[in-house]
Amino acid sequence: ANQRTLSIIKPDAVAKNVIGEIESRFEKGGLKIVAAKMLQLSEEKAGGFYAEHKERPFFKDLVGFMTSGPVVVQVLEGEEAIAKNRDLMGATNPKEAAPGTIRADFAEAIDANAVHGSDSPESAEREIAYFFAADEICPR
Ligand code: CMP
Repeated sequence: ANQRTLSIIKPDAVAKNVIGEIESRFEKGGLKIVAAKMLQLSEEKAGGFYAEHKERPFFKDLVGFMTSGPVVVQVLEGEEAIAKNRDLMGATNPKEAAPGTIRADFAEAIDANAVHGSDSPESAEREIAYFFAADEICPR
């Protein structure tokens, strides 16, 4: 089915100046960027985004990392976009990510892992609405 998913290019990848290379992976993989903006997340905005991880031991470091520099938040659209994005990203831990995936090629560590992608249709819906108003999404 045609789907939308929320993608974040994290501060490590923005700092490495590989935004374009990562976008190219999505486009070559058959996904369309239908919304995008660069943001400096506040602690509150990052913490709310990762609310489901609030009780995890890495939560504080995760919020610290996600607020350490600008991110690019975007909506990707396409056939099975949620799974396709996750395939293109590779495993959460870059050490376990398959060769040729974004995390294998651009990420250093489980926290500085270059990209985020929604993990289900329910989280995609919540995450897209967390960052974008309806009129900021431009299907094409
Ligand atoms: P993400 O898909 O953005 O969702 C939660 C993030 O927590 C995950 O990617 C990782 O970057 C980060 N994280 C940091 N430490 C861990 C850990 N030990 N296990 C899972 N995720 C972690």
